[in-house]
Order: sequence, then structure tokens, then C-alpha cells
Amino acid sequence: MAYPHTRMRRLRASAGLRGLVRETGLRAEQLVLPLFVAEAGAPPAPEGPLELPALARLSISGAVERAREAAQAGLGAVLVFGVPAHKDAEGSGAYDDEGIVALTVRALKQALPDGPLVITDVCLCEYTDHGHCGVARETGPHPPTIDNDATLELLARTAVSHARAGADIVAPSDMMDGRVGALRAELDSEGYTDTPILAYSAKFASAFYGPFRDAAGSTPAFGDRRSYQLDPANGAQALREAVLDVGEGADMLMVKPALAYGDLIAAVKRETGLPVAAYNVSGEYAMVRAAAAAGALDEREAVLEILTSLARAGADTIVTYHALDAAHWLA
Ligand code: PBG
Repeated sequence: MAYPHTRMRRLRASAGLRGLVRETGLRAEQLVLPLFVAEAGAPPAPEGPLELPALARLSISGAVERAREAAQAGLGAVLVFGVPAHKDAEGSGAYDDEGIVALTVRALKQALPDGPLVITDVCLCEYTDHGHCGVARETGPHPPTIDNDATLELLARTAVSHARAGADIVAPSDMMDGRVGALRAELDSEGYTDTPILAYSAKFASAFYGPFRDAAGSTPAFGDRRSYQLDPANGAQALREAVLDVGEGADMLMVKPALAYGDLIAAVKRETGLPVAAYNVSGEYAMVRAAAAAGALDEREAVLEILTSLARAGADTIVTYHALDAAHWLA
């Protein structure tokens, strides 16, 4: 029966009615806070035009303090990125058992054994001297290409070194083919059969990673990441990546960025049934911060709307630079 019998506004008339029928809620425990941890001697991050406190580089003890705040706020996890003092062609800092991520994970687990879960980003881009996510191979007069198969072994070593340090979840973000299977095989053969893999499956070559690359010091020295990250025009390909990662043993799947990719959050959830994480990336954080600083919108209202919408689209877990703020606003 249509109007006037049906009146959609009936259930919107009071806060009580709206609360009674609200479909989607947000919980602090589904939020993940990224942490950037810099080794002593790492070159400083470039000065950006905006104040982006959640992208500030931390020392190891600073990261422990931030994770303690995350625990107090009830966040589910922190996601650790390392900024090394030295880079090389093989990104050896990524899989060094005394490297910045391994040291940070050990410090976090020791200081906060019951604290938020520790997820590590598994990639080479912060550690290679050229800033790409894999090893480069010269191909004559052309710019070098990123060698997929040579990279897999290094990624697998990286994941094992993180697991050995105590990481609860490893999250490959490199977009090489076959990395989930390579990580699973190496983790299993080293005895880490119970370490879950959160695969950045649908990761797009995006303009929204700019502030992250300054924070992490991972801007590519030549070319761009379009030979390995997805074309934003391709939804079917993204879904295929997700399905392949399931076949290789991924435990959770990520869609990244989040705001312009709600169709894929919904599709990945529907097609795979796996837990889905959405990464509300640095450029999305910067947009909200810039608009709020200019007085164009209310940061709290905007952030809670964004996070609720990602959950409504199908995200079980949300990585967001606003995680601490959101947890306080929800409390
Ligand atoms: C590393 C990585 C990136 C991000 C997460 N892991 C950058 C990139 O692929 O260039 C971006 C996160 C953000 O923008 O918040 N491969």
C-alpha cells in the first residue's frame, strides 16, 4: 500500500523510533588504528599543508603509548607500518628480525599482552631504495619493471619475521600475484599455522594515498604503482582478485580505498562471505580534516557517518586514522 497508508516518516519521528529500527551500529572493537613507527635516523617526513595528527611518525615507545590509548578506547587492533633508517634494492629492512617492525611488535606484545591485536603491513615499499612494493628488474632502455616472482620470497620472509616477533595478523599490501599462497606456505612451514592473513585484495592505484606516502616515506622514485595495483575502473577484476586470494588461503579480505569503493565492499562480502575490512585511507582522512579545519563540516558527524556507511556496505572491520576519535565519540 502506497501513500497515504504508507508513511516512511512514521519510523523517523523520534529518537526512540529511529534507535529501535537502526540497522547498522558501530563498535570500537571493529576499528583498527594505523601506527607509523620510525627507526632512529630515518629522514624526516616532508612538511605537509595540513595538520594530520594520526599520520605522525612515532618512536617505539611512542607507539606503545598510542597502543595503550587504543586499548583504553577499546579498539580492536593497531596496524603497524615501519619507516627504516636505511633502504636498499631488496628492501631488506622489511624482513630483518631486528628491523623496525619486528622491534615494535615485540615491544607492543611485551608491554600490552592483552592490548589490541597487532596487525603488520607486509610490503617492501617503505624499505626499497626506489619505493616500489617489490624488487625492480632492469629491462633495457625502459624504466625497470617490478619482478613479481622474485618479490614473493621476500614478502614471505617478511611475514614470517613479523609472526616470529609476535604479530597477531599479517596483512600483505603489495598486490603481487600469488603472495597470499606464498605467505601461507612459508608461515605454515615455520610453524605459524594459526597466524591469519588479511589480504589487501582489492587495492586500487589511488590518488588517495598521498599523505600516507609522505608519512611512510614510500613514494616511488620512478613511475607509479599501476602495473600492480588495480585500475579504479575495474570492479570485476577486483572481485576476481578477492576470489583468488580466498583460494590461496586468505582469512580476511581488504578493500582499499573505502569511500569511493562501497560497491566492492558489498560485492566482496556477498561473493566470498569472508570477513571484509575497509581501509579508510590517508587521503580520505585528509579530506575530512581539511574540510573540518575550514569550517565546512563537522568532523565528528562526518566521520561517524562515513564509518557507519562502510559498515552498512558490508565492512566488518574498518582501518581508519580516526579510530581513536571515533571510539571516544561512540563511548
Ligand atoms: C603500502 C601501503 C600503502 C598504503 C597502505 N599500505 C601505500 C601505497 O600502496 O602506495 C596506503 C594507506 C593510506 O593511504 O592510508 N603498499
